Amino acid sequence: MSKIFPQKADSPLAKKFPECFLWGAATSAHQVEGNNHNDWTEWEKENAQRLSKESGGKYPPENYISGKACDHYNRYEEDFDLARRLGHNAHRFSIEWSRIEPEEGKFDDKEIEHYRDVIRALRARNIEPFVTLWHWTLPVWFVKKGGFEKSGNIKYFVRFCEYAAKEFKDGVKFWITLNEPEIYAANSYLKGIWPPQKKNLISYLQVMINLIKVHREVYIMIKKISSDAKIGVAKNNIYFEAYRNKFHNLMLKKFIDWWWNFYFLNRIKNYQDFIGLNHYFHNRIKNFKFNQNENKKISDMSWELYPEAIYYVLECLKKYSKPVYITENGLADAKDENREWFIKESLKNIHKAIAGGVDVRGYFHWSLLDNFEWDKGFWPRFGLVEVDYETLKRKPRSSSAIYAEIAKNNSINDTEQEEEK
Ligand code: BGC
Repeated sequence: MSKIFPQKADSPLAKKFPECFLWGAATSAHQVEGNNHNDWTEWEKENAQRLSKESGGKYPPENYISGKACDHYNRYEEDFDLARRLGHNAHRFSIEWSRIEPEEGKFDDKEIEHYRDVIRALRARNIEPFVTLWHWTLPVWFVKKGGFEKSGNIKYFVRFCEYAAKEFKDGVKFWITLNEPEIYAANSYLKGIWPPQKKNLISYLQVMINLIKVHREVYIMIKKISSDAKIGVAKNNIYFEAYRNKFHNLMLKKFIDWWWNFYFLNRIKNYQDFIGLNHYFHNRIKNFKFNQNENKKISDMSWELYPEAIYYVLECLKKYSKPVYITENGLADAKDENREWFIKESLKNIHKAIAGGVDVRGYFHWSLLDNFEWDKGFWPRFGLVEVDYETLKRKPRSSSAIYAEIAKNNSINDTEQEEEK
């Protein structure tokens, strides 16, 4: 473990975060709950063998089946106890549409009660719930109707959200309508790697447009139910960097910034109370090529670790004049070699953005637990807490204690400056 300086909140080198800053971690239903039945579980069954083969046999087919996942559905109290012990005062999770409305128009009271208990369990521990209404998985009946590709289907999702908003309104203030709509649309309808594995530009654009409509309609509907609710999306924004600021690199950056980072946000700008930022990527553009990164440090998934990027991404959100919650940020790091460094450096950069006038009000690390990483399966380890998938035992990684200390002090020491002294 690296040298840890005591995080004295009153040290002159401490970078303080705003009062009432929210500190937490995020999960999503399909990735942690276990025993879901939705379009992904169907797809996993059909594709596990293929994915295992494509890994050259490195990962067995079981790696690609979400199955019981972390059994968080039954162990949420234990997990929230851990979160509390780790100093978290907020938690982001998603409710699973396919559980609540397993058949078209039939809502399951037992599942409603389950999520009510989940919300109560958070509140009992003084943890503020951030509820995501859709984190990529869909009921099978909805997919059979054509999913989000058909604008006529928007009403089904809005009806589900209305049901949830009415049932949970007493316990929930913060709502996230959609998780990373642009990643979903690209992976499921353009690149053809996630269900329903389409590669069709028109479908991709249609899904994007429909998700914009979905967000707006759900926003208006929730506001009617609880006027003081705070509503946003979790938007995946990337730091596109034009190599050496050369003209052609800059032109491409301008275009891709507009499409990837701002188009969705611009179209919903009058329908959001905050911006939820999910941030993972830096993408350097050099001579018309993307991803020309230096990759000095990478995660277990070979994603570049470049914590400076979050500063630039946050700066660009200033123009919306909205509070920002960082709803995801993290790395796959099974050995916990880089997580402490990554968290500290990211937070220093977030602090810099706050000092520069971006109204950041919270940070949710991805993730509280190791979990099911979609088409990659279980091998990537994103958790502050390690999960043994045989015994389902939880074991906090050492970086979780560093994050806990920062959260408890609501500040981070600039150890580099301290070391220089
Ligand atoms: C998603 C998570 C995912 C994480 C790491 C985010 O884009 O919202 O579901 O596990 O990235 O890949």
